[in-house]
Amino acid sequence: MSEPFYITTAISYPNGRPHIGHAYESIATDVMARFQRARGRDVRMITGTDEHGLKMVQTARAAGRETLDFATEMADHFKAMAAKLNISYDKFVRTSEPSHHKASQALWNAMKANGDLYLDRYEGWYSVRDEAFYDESELTDGEGGVRLSPQGTPVEWTAEETWFFALSKYQDKLLALYESNPDFIRPESRRNEVLRFVEGGLKDLSVSRTSFDWGVQVPDSDGHVMYVWVDALTAYLSGIGYPDTDGDFAKYWPANIHMIGKDIVRFHTVYWPAFLMSANLPLPSQIFGHGFLLNRGEKMSKSLGNVVDPMDLADQFGVDQMRYYLLREVSFGQDGTYSPEAIVRTANADLANSFGNLAQRSLSMIFKNLDGTLSNDYEVHADDEALLADIFTMAREQLPTAFDELAFSVGIEDWIRSVFASNQYVDTQAPWGLRKTDHERMRAVLMTLFKAVRALAIAIRPVVPASADKLLDQMGIDADARDYAALADDQWFDKLIASGCKIGQPVPIFPRLDLPEGAEGVGQT
Ligand code: MF3
Repeated sequence: MSEPFYITTAISYPNGRPHIGHAYESIATDVMARFQRARGRDVRMITGTDEHGLKMVQTARAAGRETLDFATEMADHFKAMAAKLNISYDKFVRTSEPSHHKASQALWNAMKANGDLYLDRYEGWYSVRDEAFYDESELTDGEGGVRLSPQGTPVEWTAEETWFFALSKYQDKLLALYESNPDFIRPESRRNEVLRFVEGGLKDLSVSRTSFDWGVQVPDSDGHVMYVWVDALTAYLSGIGYPDTDGDFAKYWPANIHMIGKDIVRFHTVYWPAFLMSANLPLPSQIFGHGFLLNRGEKMSKSLGNVVDPMDLADQFGVDQMRYYLLREVSFGQDGTYSPEAIVRTANADLANSFGNLAQRSLSMIFKNLDGTLSNDYEVHADDEALLADIFTMAREQLPTAFDELAFSVGIEDWIRSVFASNQYVDTQAPWGLRKTDHERMRAVLMTLFKAVRALAIAIRPVVPASADKLLDQMGIDADARDYAALADDQWFDKLIASGCKIGQPVPIFPRLDLPEGAEGVGQT
């Protein structure tokens, strides 16, 4: 039985269509899921929509819609985005589903049984945009007397009877957790923020609302719905069958990684572990707060008119080109910038001109000069050995080490270096010149290139899955021989030859992209 690996994206508010930030998080999470599958792990990935809370009620009302109807329509856009971007999730959780309500109530009852929930009156500041409570000391003054949260969103005063969660009780336990488990919050900068916040003292948290009813009913407490974050976080449990604690839950919980944006680190690293401790459930291993994507260096916002539809980007530049760009260019964990020009430049330089061209010329020379036939009957030169050794070090060690750490750009940097080395090898060996002068040597060079291209394709496959598969199909490599076990198999080439594999006229996998007319205007509608 292979070891389980459970990874989640945040579940998104479907109060609008998905934007590139959602696409980015889904892609990064998917790359990790695919990478772990290639490593032989039994992966479970969940994503979904966070449909309760006042923000959803207000947005739907402004659109003249029923909340659930509106949420359903938007959730469908999120599902469509995931399908388009080739996101390999196992389950899409909608928090409006009855099974999710049941899970949230079970978690609530467990916290209550532990004596951590009590009724009292809440008076304080609330940001509907963030769906978060803030302390007076965290606020700043905005224009026109509006008070602003640390995220720059307006807050309003609320006063109502609510249930409280005894968060203050968990201050020391949380500090001990961060202390004993330094990788719980990553990257490091986020960890420091959280430490400061918790050391500053924790107040009990208001966890129910009575002023609206769109949410999960608090058990045995008429008129109360749960604070949206209590039920939202529970999606990580309901997605694997909780409150049934056998089956998938037993297998996959606790999660290996919750992948989230840096703006919601507090909910995941303070509230979430406290809820879980209270309910006597094990804690996830890691919360990773990734950065934001900036459109030409500017934050995206509806008012700036630079909100980019990820579906348009994928249509224009290609799904794999977009996936590759986002993970290569942005140091994972930090903010990153993108623009249509930059996507085109990177996709052309790395994918079309370097890797695509390497694959295309290698396979087409095998097709034309060797009649598509593979052979292991050739004399190996030191140059051949050096190239393959370099590529195997990248594919078996460097890239996996980096990806394990979620340092995607570092792993891809190692990969592209090996691609460049392979192109360098082609230029130095000049197999086209050997065709007439030394056919045997040409065969050795082309076989070396075949092996190089295969390992390069397998290594980058989690990032550009459809394109890598298209290439590996053309190389006759079995669908189940595209993982790390296959990379470790020294017999693969002999087996492939024995299977009678013949290479046909290859089809290029990465077209050269032109910057479309008016691409500067992408998203500037
Ligand atoms: N809906 C929240 C947001 O978009 C994220 C919720 S993630 C959760 O900020 F799973 F923890 F709920």
